[in-house]
Amino acid sequence: MIVFGASGHSKVVLDVLLSNGIEVEKVIDDSPKTSEIFGIRVEKAENIAPSGDAIIAVGSNMSRKRISERWLFNYQSVHHPSAAVSPFAKIGAGTVVMPQASINADTAVGKHCIINTGAVVEHDCLVGDFAHVAPNASLAGGVVVGEGAHIGIGACVIQGITIGKWALIGAGAVIIKDVPDFATVVGNPGKIIKEHKNH
Ligand SMILES: CC(C)(COP(=O)(O)OP(=O)(O)OC[C@H]1O[C@@H](n2cnc3c(N)ncnc32)[C@H](O)[C@@H]1OP(=O)(O)O)[C@@H](O)C(=O)NCCC(=O)NCCS
Repeated sequence: MIVFGASGHSKVVLDVLLSNGIEVEKVIDDSPKTSEIFGIRVEKAENIAPSGDAIIAVGSNMSRKRISERWLFNYQSVHHPSAAVSPFAKIGAGTVVMPQASINADTAVGKHCIINTGAVVEHDCLVGDFAHVAPNASLAGGVVVGEGAHIGIGACVIQGITIGKWALIGAGAVIIKDVPDFATVVGNPGKIIKEHKNH
């Protein structure tokens, strides 16, 4: 397995892989600032011809999208042994499920998502490609999360809500209404503070 990204986030991804007994051949990065992580060598990405299994361990949702489009590895998904992932959930290629996270029945999580430490994704949710459900954030049943959206640390989304693509939900926000594409929403109850046209 090759891990793309040598940041803080990649340490957690490496932990998840090593906890599963998966051997990591090397870490690659566009501009590496270290030569090894946990004794695994770090190389500059431009010298690598993509082949074999890989995971993108980069926290930025847009960067994961761009890297996945440029570097055509055989992307794998992985979850920490302490995560509770329903056998009736679908998880896309490249998605990482961190320790103590829960993903419940009939939920579908897209490609290259992060379901971070202790996050809860309840039944019948649809989580779009490149989305990130940050630590301790919770999605109630039937929530739809658009491509590339970020659900901030500790945020809660009540049942049946749709979060637009590339939306940013602030840390600790409580979302009780649908959120448009590209909106930034903070607070309890969540209010839009910014809307950006492009990502
Ligand atoms: C919502 C967020 C994306 C906004 O970032 P930003 O666009 O840089 O916004 P700013 O920091 O300029 O803040 C704009 C305003 O919103 C307020 N605000 C920012 N985040 C807030 C939050 N989570 N809850 C309540 N208010 C918040 C700021 O106090 C500021 O208010 P002011 O204009 O009255 O001073 C960011 O603050 C946030 O909460 N990110 C989540 C981080 C996260 O989940 N990390 C986990 C990584 S694993």
